[in-house]
Parts: sequence; structure tokens; C-alpha cells
Amino acid sequence: MDEIFGRKNFRNTIIISRIKKNIREREKVKALNYAHDVIVFYAKSDDCFVLPPTKSVERRERWHAFDAPGIRPTMEYELFGHRPPAGRHWLYDKNRAKTLIDSGDLRSNPRTGKPQYRIPSGTEDICDTLWIDITASSFKWNFPSGEKNEKLIQRILEMSTIEGDFVLDSFLGSGTTAAVAHKMNRRWIGIELGEHCHTHCLPRLRKVIDGTDQGGISKIIPTPNPSQEGNKESSLPGGDLGVGWQGGGGFKYYYLAPSLLKKDKHDNWIIDERYNADMLATAMAKHEGFRYCPDEHIYWKHGRSTEKDYIFTTTQFVTVQFLDKIHEEMKPDESLLICCKSFQEACENRYATITIKKIPNMLLGRCEFGKEDYSLNIVNLPEPTPDPSQEGNVEKDASGEGNVESPLLGGNHKSPLLGGDLGVGSGKRKKPEKDNNSKGHNKQRKLFE
Ligand SMILES: C[S@@+](CC[C@H](N)C(=O)[O-])C[C@H]1O[C@@H](n2cnc3c(N)ncnc32)[C@H](O)[C@@H]1O
Repeated sequence: MDEIFGRKNFRNTIIISRIKKNIREREKVKALNYAHDVIVFYAKSDDCFVLPPTKSVERRERWHAFDAPGIRPTMEYELFGHRPPAGRHWLYDKNRAKTLIDSGDLRSNPRTGKPQYRIPSGTEDICDTLWIDITASSFKWNFPSGEKNEKLIQRILEMSTIEGDFVLDSFLGSGTTAAVAHKMNRRWIGIELGEHCHTHCLPRLRKVIDGTDQGGISKIIPTPNPSQEGNKESSLPGGDLGVGWQGGGGFKYYYLAPSLLKKDKHDNWIIDERYNADMLATAMAKHEGFRYCPDEHIYWKHGRSTEKDYIFTTTQFVTVQFLDKIHEEMKPDESLLICCKSFQEACENRYATITIKKIPNMLLGRCEFGKEDYSLNIVNLPEPTPDPSQEGNVEKDASGEGNVESPLLGGNHKSPLLGGDLGVGSGKRKKPEKDNNSKGHNKQRKLFE
């Protein structure tokens, strides 16, 4: 996280509770069982703010002594026949104390006669870094080790995003983050490489879209707090109220293709045989900055970069005759990039409007190919610095960047390809009976601006 956000943008570690292990036997152990997990809270930059979430509590009214430590001459007057104890002062000045007495919030202790002020009853508190009021996991979707509790993700998103923001979970797991983001009208991107992308994430998110998922934060639970009159279905105060989800929105689902190029046994770069003609044409268009949009009638128009500039990808050996035929069909103001495996030497520079390139060669050096793990090459972390103006960002080796070399294949087809899968969605829900989506959190400053 330091590498991505910069160490100086670290804000807090938030504690959440794990499901408690049921341990009966007391044995000697090397370490204690973990009862908590941590959320590491980072911001994008120094000028990002969040509205702290609230949590439900049951707090009864109580009275508290009116003095506080420290010497404050303007707050050391006589009140109900008493002065503050030595080295202490009253909490407020004379005027404020009078207002509190008038409103019944400051009185003399019936037993001792000393001033005391009222702490009203309440049903919500502002959250600090201890979030043990929400259990971290739930077990509704049969995910092997349990899923994150939707309420937990809701609290994080409510605090750090507003409607329409993007939420990324690059380790989607059971899909909780996407489901919650969707129900909260955020846009989202989820990435998952496991088979449970098909067995868990997809079915779950389809249920979110069609509104049959009524678990988690879907249902509105009216708050019992009378002080929240007029705001009973708000998902903000108390943090444990649902959104009234009834379905809507949608998402696109992509498979990440394998590396386009690989080495053969002679150490030559070749096109991975799992790429069929369409996939290859899509990939080449993407690599070369063309929009893939095959023309229905003209076979060599696979995509375009401008109105008149086209790309054509073929695995055939391109001969002069073949090139001439294409050129005959081209209009004078059209230009074409041909990506092929090989071509007759005489093709090169034959036409000013046609550029011809060999596929492996034209891509090499531009991306990493033929690896299972495209790990970022990240240099060692810098030590924390006391200078607040110092950027905590770590430089990344350029070779580690932009190394997603495969085309993203759209559509709902079942691809035989390996690699991570990716969903991009947005929640635009059907209008709930009661629209509880509080206006309050739109006022909130975004965490990631
Ligand atoms: C603990 S789960 C994620 C839980 C989820 N983010 C949540 O909040 O409930 C981690 C997931 O990350 C997936 N994963 C691990 N490495 C990955 C990678 N390189 N690309 C995509 N997914 C990955 C695992 O398959 C696993 O499902």
C-alpha cells in the first residue's frame, strides 16, 4: 500500500473482529489465536477527508462532573457555591454555563452539590478505529472461508465514496465488494482469478442485478431511534441500516486472455496457439491503438484509428499479389496497417498508404510476454521520513508497468483461456419503494479525489 499510495498517505489501522474460534483445551502454544483483522486505511493525498461513520449504541443518559484538568482563569468562577478543585477549571465559561443551566443540561449534583452536566442518551456514536460492532464475516454465499460482511464494506464505502464513484476490488473472492458497491450505486471493477469467479461471483452479482438478493444490506431496517425522525431509512446513522435494494444496473464480464506471444522450443517468439483469428485481430487492434470494429463487407478492415486509417491482421504469408488486390480496393485517401506473420520482401514500401509489419517483432520490447506472473518490479521501500513535504511514493521500474498484454474479451462466452477474470459494473437500481439513499453522504468530501 505504501508503494501505491505513498507512506505519508497512511491514515489509520482499523481493527475488525474475526469469527471467534471455539477453543476448549488449554495447551501450550507459541502464539495466541488471532481474534482480529486489520483494515489499512490510506488516502490518495493529504487534502482528502472522510466523514467518520457512526455506529449503533445504546447509551443511557448520565451526569458527569463539570471540571477538567488545567488552569484556565476565565473558567474558574463560582458555580452553585463551588469553585473548581486546585489545578482544574470548569468546562465552559460563565455565559455558556448559564445557557446550559437554563436548558437543564447543567445542575448541582443532588448528593454533593458540585456542578455536573448531562450526557444525553443516544443510539449512535462516531466510530473510532475499533470496529468490533460489526462482525467481519458472514456465511450466506457458501464461500469456503466465509465472505466479508456486507455491512462492513458498506461502512467503508459510505465513509470513502459517493454515488457514481469507482470501487476496485482486485481480489474479489465471493464478490461482496462488488455486490455492496452496486447496491450503493457505485461503479465497480472486480478481478478474480479463481474458479469461484464463475461459481460464486457471477451468480451472486446476477442476483443483485435482478433484485433477488435480499440479504446483506439490501433490506431497510428501520432505526428505533426517535431522534432520527424524518430520517428513519437513512443508511447513514447507526451504520447498520440497509439500502432498500430492488435490483437494477448491470455489469460487463471479461476474460483476460493469455500472453499473446510465447517462445517455441528454438527460443523464437511465436503467437500463442490459443489465439484464434478473431482474438488475434482484437489484440493487435488494441496494441496498435485501433478500435476493433470489423467491417461486415470488407474483410481487411478489422478496425480503425481514424475515419480513413485501418488495421488488418492475418496469419497468412502476404504476397505482392495479395497486397495489390487490397490496394485496388482501397480508396485514395485511405491508409492501412497490415499485421501478419510474414510477407514477401517486395511488399515493404510498395505502397505509401500501406504499412506492413511482422507480428512478433512489432510487439517485442513493448510488453512482457510469456510469463505466468507479471509481477511489478518494485524497488525497496523508502524509510519513513520526518520531512512532511517528502513524497512517500516509490518509483516503479518502467519495465514493470503496462504489462497486461492480452486483449480483454467481452461478451458472455465461456472462454477456455486461463488468466484472471474481470467484471466492470455499475448499480443503477430500480426505484425502491422508499428511497433511503441519504442526501447526506453526497455532501461528504470524497476520499479519493
Ligand atoms: C480473501 S479473498 C478476497 C476477499 C474479498 N476481497 C472480500 O472482501 O470479501 C482473496 C481472493 O483473491 C483472489 N486472488 C489471489 N490472487 C489473485 C490475483 N493475482 N488476481 C486475481 N485474484 C486473485 C483469490 O482467488 C481469492 O478469491
